[in-house]
Amino acid sequence: MSKKRTRKPSAGRAKRLPRGTPAGEHRPVLVQQVLRVLDAKPGQVFVDCTIGFAGHAVELLHRVGPGGLLIGIDWDADNLPKARARLQAVGYPFRLIHGNFASLETVLAQLDIVHVDGILADLGMSSMQVDDAERGFSYMRDGPLDMRMDRSHGQTAAQLLGRISEMDLRHALAELGDHANGAALAAAICEARAREKFIRTRQLADFVLRFFGKTSWRLRQEKRRWQTHPAAQLFQTLRILVNRELGNLGNLLRVAPSCLKPRACVAIIGFHSGEDRLIKRAFREDAAKGIYAEMSQEPMSADFAEKSSNPRSRSAKMRWARRAV
Ligand SMILES: C[S@@+](CC[C@H](N)C(=O)[O-])C[C@H]1O[C@@H](n2cnc3c(N)ncnc32)[C@H](O)[C@@H]1O
Repeated sequence: MSKKRTRKPSAGRAKRLPRGTPAGEHRPVLVQQVLRVLDAKPGQVFVDCTIGFAGHAVELLHRVGPGGLLIGIDWDADNLPKARARLQAVGYPFRLIHGNFASLETVLAQLDIVHVDGILADLGMSSMQVDDAERGFSYMRDGPLDMRMDRSHGQTAAQLLGRISEMDLRHALAELGDHANGAALAAAICEARAREKFIRTRQLADFVLRFFGKTSWRLRQEKRRWQTHPAAQLFQTLRILVNRELGNLGNLLRVAPSCLKPRACVAIIGFHSGEDRLIKRAFREDAAKGIYAEMSQEPMSADFAEKSSNPRSRSAKMRWARRAV
């Protein structure tokens, strides 16, 4: 008798990837949830405020088709050529703008557009930025301590870390990083910088390791939770400060309703509690004023399969709101 081989359903099997996505690289998060919420249709106009590697945008462009328009914004000019190549391969109309989504109304006005059929923002940094050591975002790769999304101006993380007061650093770590030992870490950094300027990512990451009494680190799970690098929260906090990320998000939340057509949706993917609080509060306040007719009550997050195959999705939370008529 021949044994019938049955294939076990794998909980960790990844869902269909967006078109043209190289497996394991630059993978966009919560794609199916984004597409469900934004529900793009042929002929519509959508704006992706954080185009990155255009993972979400390629899918939206396929849906709006030859009669629609996809507008992509990114504050990091280095991302645009890569996004352009992927969008050109689709063959439908799109426009790419180097700019800050905090000025969304102005960006749309430059294109003679007032209202769009949907807005997406996938916050934070792209894997392309993390992978490039010269950008200084990564505690795993040695590079200059820069962290600016837009390298044409603004202070670097090294300059910020050289000037910030101990009290401000302590508050930022508590508010943005939920950092264990934030006060002691802020004091240690401010004491050490008097002797030695922090200018390299490896130098800062090694300092934090020593502060926590460690000499090395490797990715592992403890009690079914991934243990992040001890410097991860400090790096995230510095990135948020350098790029004034909460201020930019606040502006986007303020102008988004006036950029949406009636019944159109805005969807925002955040990666830490500071962002999520801001998004939830703005959507609630605008819903109470009758500006939004509907909003997500709970944030949407990745399922087990996505979390297993795409580490970046583990902390992703998406909220959405629908403009009233
Ligand atoms: C997580 S990535 C987006 C990934 C993208 N959804 C994809 O599918 O490839 C976030 C992007 O937002 C950009 N960004 C961050 N802050 C921005 C801002 N204030 N305005 C415009 N772009 C911003 C970053 O440069 C980065 O490329």
